[in-house]
Amino acid sequence: MSFRIVLMVRVLFSLAIAASQELNFNFTYSGFRSTNLSLDGLAELTSNGLLRLTNETKQRKSHAFYPNPVTFKNSINSTAFSFSTTFVFAIIPEYATVSGHGIAFVIAPTRGLPGALANQYLGLFNKTSNGNQTNHVVAVELDTIYSSEFNDIDDNHVGIDINGLESERSASAGYYSQLNGMFTNLTLISGHPMQVWMEYDGKEKQLDVTIAPIDVDKSSRPLLALSRDLSPILNSSMYIGFSSSTGSVFTSHYVLGWSFKMNGLAEALDISRLPKLPRVGPKKTSKFLTIGLPVLCLSLVLVAVSSISYAIRRRRKFAEVLEDWELDYGPHRFNFRDLYIATKGFRDEELLGSGGFGRVYKGVLPTSKIQIAVKRVSHESRQGMREFVAEIVSIGRLRHRNLVPLLGYCRRKGELLLVYDYMPNGSLDKYLYDQPTVALNWSQRFRVIKGVASGLLYLHEEWEQVVIHRDVKASNVLLDGELNGRLGDFGLARLYDHGTDPQTTHVVGTLGYLAPEHARTGKATTSTDVFAFGAFLLEVASGRRPIQPTEDIILVDWVFSRWLGGEILEAGDPNLGTEYIAEEMELVLKLGLMCSHSEPAARPSMRQVVQFLEGNVPLPDISPLCLSASGLTFSHREGFDEFAIDDFANSYPSSMDTAFARSSSVTESLLSGGR
Ligand SMILES: Nc1ncnc2c1ncn2[C@@H]1O[C@H](COP(=O)(O)OP(=O)(O)O)[C@@H](O)[C@H]1O
Ligand SMILES: *[C@@H]1O[C@H](CO)[C@@H](O)[C@H](O)[C@H]1NC(C)=O
Ligand SMILES: *[C@@H]1O[C@H](CO)[C@@H](O)[C@H](O)[C@H]1NC(C)=O
Ligand SMILES: *[C@@H]1O[C@H](CO)[C@@H](O)[C@H](O)[C@H]1NC(C)=O
Ligand SMILES: *[C@@H]1O[C@H](CO)[C@@H](O)[C@H](O)[C@H]1NC(C)=O
Ligand SMILES: *[C@@H]1O[C@H](CO)[C@@H](O)[C@H](O)[C@H]1NC(C)=O
Ligand SMILES: *[C@@H]1O[C@H](CO)[C@@H](O)[C@H](O)[C@H]1NC(C)=O
Ligand SMILES: *[C@@H]1O[C@H](CO)[C@@H](O)[C@H](O)[C@H]1NC(C)=O
Ligand SMILES: *[C@@H]1O[C@H](CO)[C@@H](O)[C@H](O)[C@H]1NC(C)=O
Repeated sequence: MSFRIVLMVRVLFSLAIAASQELNFNFTYSGFRSTNLSLDGLAELTSNGLLRLTNETKQRKSHAFYPNPVTFKNSINSTAFSFSTTFVFAIIPEYATVSGHGIAFVIAPTRGLPGALANQYLGLFNKTSNGNQTNHVVAVELDTIYSSEFNDIDDNHVGIDINGLESERSASAGYYSQLNGMFTNLTLISGHPMQVWMEYDGKEKQLDVTIAPIDVDKSSRPLLALSRDLSPILNSSMYIGFSSSTGSVFTSHYVLGWSFKMNGLAEALDISRLPKLPRVGPKKTSKFLTIGLPVLCLSLVLVAVSSISYAIRRRRKFAEVLEDWELDYGPHRFNFRDLYIATKGFRDEELLGSGGFGRVYKGVLPTSKIQIAVKRVSHESRQGMREFVAEIVSIGRLRHRNLVPLLGYCRRKGELLLVYDYMPNGSLDKYLYDQPTVALNWSQRFRVIKGVASGLLYLHEEWEQVVIHRDVKASNVLLDGELNGRLGDFGLARLYDHGTDPQTTHVVGTLGYLAPEHARTGKATTSTDVFAFGAFLLEVASGRRPIQPTEDIILVDWVFSRWLGGEILEAGDPNLGTEYIAEEMELVLKLGLMCSHSEPAARPSMRQVVQFLEGNVPLPDISPLCLSASGLTFSHREGFDEFAIDDFANSYPSSMDTAFARSSSVTESLLSGGR
């Protein structure tokens, strides 16, 4: 007896548990990764957890059902329970304006809806079963095609279907604002995810359907409301899921998340946890064609235009002037690009100095890594350029240990670039005047003097042509790594002779180094070079500039006066103290005066100069009186005083022709006065 009671209690208890489980039935899928769904037709679960009901295949259907039956009521004749469901879907069609047929959420007595058709039947019914009371099907359709046979209202509506496709209730897709109740249209095939809520109140026999974009909360005013008791329609055990069909247009129907609850409100979906829709769908392709392609084309055009303009600018930046005749000078011609790279874009940090002809930059040739000095000479006229380049190139063949090697040139519009070997110790003038940080001792100076003399002799007599330097001076003597004096800038003065009006004698040279007859006639000769060399000798021996504007001293004059006074050695550089060889000093000073003779014929040749310096031939025994008797009149004090000395100060030591053209006649009277 008691045993029976216990058994009955147990049975009742377990029944109660089963009933409560059924009453509480619920699930929530935020994406369908590793979800057990019953799929058929085109339906598939994508790797990122999307339920893809249809893919790009025409006129097919698909189903996705929760695999187990769900109890909607206790027995055949009892009332159906309340239930609610919500899901997020997206319809991505091939074209923006037309698509496949749509999606339906369905409650059906079977899982696969056998015999149902695709297209307008949405995979729910077929022609014969449509509308038959024996179907026991309740569905919410998201219909994207207008089917007149089912009395559709439009091609973008939501409907409640009971046993057939002619909706019990339907409305254009949209939602009522929760704030002001305003209706907003929605486009089902927009490709944007949207959420649907379906709620059945078993007591009130009320079925509500609401839809909203994914980022809008559920409105309290449903889009569709149907007062109907679902009890006769729903069997006690039903399957729930989705049905979808395509038509003549490729369409992808997606469900992103789904939650269901019997006897209560379905758990809200966490939108942020839903899987992402694929980026490249048919819709995206059309977007790509309408927006992406023009943008891509535009940017390609922009890239092309900017790279062409860059190329043009680059070309212009590195443009050179190259004429046919120059092809003969192949190895001597440099690429502007290489020089640009070598000097790091001619930046100021690489500037070695600027002289009369232009700025000089230090550089390293990109391939050979040879150190170079690049002189940028601006040149307005092309006239005479051919002649000059020919000369430059022939000069480039000059090789002597006391000449700065000219490696080649490069020609651009209005500009000539001369490329020399780099002389690490710079120009000699830096070691002579104005309290030099490093002074050269006498033996170094004497060696430089002899070197420059032999270099000048090579130019005058030992090469196949007579080359006149035209600008011998301390600042044009560069010191190489072994402190050998090397003459630079040779022949460059010719550039200013060429292409200028022969009527206006343009004299190039540096004041104080310029022979009087050169200033007068404008003609440079080997004798005018010797004159300048004389000034150079005095300069190196005395450590003074040829013209000392601040002290009103003309060096030749001053040395000569020391000699007249009986002690020529007084003219020696005080920085040397007594650290010099008196015979050599005397030789250099006297030779300097001889070379500075205002009468060209009285000056020695460079060959004689070298012989004197080498000691092979003794200097003729000249006295200052005999020199002046033979016409060695160096200066004209009156003239000097009359002339505003500041003008010299301004133009010295510039070798600019303009400065000189202005003052040459004065200089003539200054330096060759007395005639
Ligand atoms: N080949 C070279 N190597 C090193 N320095 C150089 C070279 N050529 C010129 N320089 C430097 O550039 C300066 C200007 O040179 P330059 O134009 O020849 O002067 P200027 O016309 O007064 O004689 C020089 O004082 C020297 O310091
Ligand atoms: C969902 O169902 C489970 C049993 O499957 C139950 O334990 C749980 O309480 C239910 N959740 C809700 C919110 O009803
Ligand atoms: C899915 O559910 C069905 C029906 O309950 C069951 O037969 C099948 O084994 C399940 N599959 C998985 C992988 O859980
Ligand atoms: C669509 O899905 C079906 C079934 O999964 C498959 O056979 C077909 O290749 C798919 N088509 C495309 C275009 O993905
Ligand atoms: C259900 O109700 C109908 C009448 O509404 C009745 O004919 C039928 O016998 C009932 N069935 C059961 C199982 O109660
Ligand atoms: C659904 O219920 C009806 C009676 O209400 C019955 O005739 C029908 O066979 C049931 N369908 C299924 C699939 O169980
Ligand atoms: C229509 O569907 C029903 C089931 O709903 C099926 O029994 C029937 O054979 C189908 N008819 C056709 C013509 O496919
Ligand atoms: C509805 O379907 C049932 C069984 O499939 C069939 O016997 C009946 O004739 C159909 N009714 C109509 C109106 O087509
Ligand atoms: C919404 O769409 C319907 C028909 O598609 C149209 O008549 C109505 O003006 C639209 N409403 C708004 C606010 O765009």
